[in-house]
Amino acid sequence: MTTETRPSVETEPDTALDARAGWTHEHVLDLDDFSREEVGQVLDIADRMREVLDRRIARVPALRGYTVVNLFYEPSTRTRASFELAGKVLGADVLSLTASTSSVVKGESLIDTVRTMRAMRADAIVMRHSMAGAPYLAAKHTDASIINAGDGAHAHPTQALLDLYTIRRHIGDLTGKRVVMVGDIAHSRVARSDLWGLTAMGAEVVVCGPPTLLPRGLRPQDRPSHAESALPPVTIETDIERALEGADVVMALRLQSERQQGGLLPSLHEYSQHYQVTEERLARAKPAALLMHPGPKNEGIEIAASVAGSDRSIIEEQVTNGVAVRMALLYLLSGRTELPAGDETRR
Ligand code: CP
Repeated sequence: MTTETRPSVETEPDTALDARAGWTHEHVLDLDDFSREEVGQVLDIADRMREVLDRRIARVPALRGYTVVNLFYEPSTRTRASFELAGKVLGADVLSLTASTSSVVKGESLIDTVRTMRAMRADAIVMRHSMAGAPYLAAKHTDASIINAGDGAHAHPTQALLDLYTIRRHIGDLTGKRVVMVGDIAHSRVARSDLWGLTAMGAEVVVCGPPTLLPRGLRPQDRPSHAESALPPVTIETDIERALEGADVVMALRLQSERQQGGLLPSLHEYSQHYQVTEERLARAKPAALLMHPGPKNEGIEIAASVAGSDRSIIEEQVTNGVAVRMALLYLLSGRTELPAGDETRR
């Protein structure tokens, strides 16, 4: 039996309370409404959560009595499992529902499903849905906290936060750092949320892919006047060699075939010939450049197996950090929950 000597969330109630001070978000729907300071607050708490996660027995009662429901209308490995672990490490009750085995198959609506979960006292509902905007609709119909775990091709804010956290752990301040995303930008909710988060933190963002996989409206001159500020500033490249030149971070993105219409690519073979992140191409980045991928990855298509398994790859660390960042988010959101009188244990 080991004796726990390291500082913990539950033994520092005053510090823990301070860590949540100033947090105003009821939901986490995307990062377009997160300031640099707010992103920094999440990442600072994630540091403390990572310390808890790395303990031999990773359990603290910070969210005892708090209920988290995972409501997934689309498949997931990393996001769903990490929210489940994040809640459990903090002592929350966690319930996971998949649409295919729920009353959704009997025709129950999204709103009714969310309201049913809230009627069972869910405090936070983590939602993945194929329709962009579904978590926003849910948030209008419940006072539980809605966390967007991916909505169509729109947003995946918790992935972006874990990406930011992972980069920060390696290179510190992101100001002026060149972050290059390569792949299917048009259909990637990760790219969209990363764009908001990275630019909020001062990074220089480059997106690279074939013209058919770059979203319309990304270039400032293509944006309709009513939507000039609808996307953050970004450099667009269709030449991967040029894009990777001097990169501090390279993110390879999967082809989102489940969201693509046909005819966007001549063939997978040609795509990988022109846009796969290979060792030779990565040599154009800075020598210490980080190689990331949100997963799931298709080695041999968007990323070479030798690159994915190389020393530069921090793909598995992204997964570990995903648990810490989701712990931080649940912890921050729990600050708005009404507790029974006299119950100070979660404060
Ligand atoms: N990155 C990500 O969202 O992975 P999952 O689809 O496995 O959750």
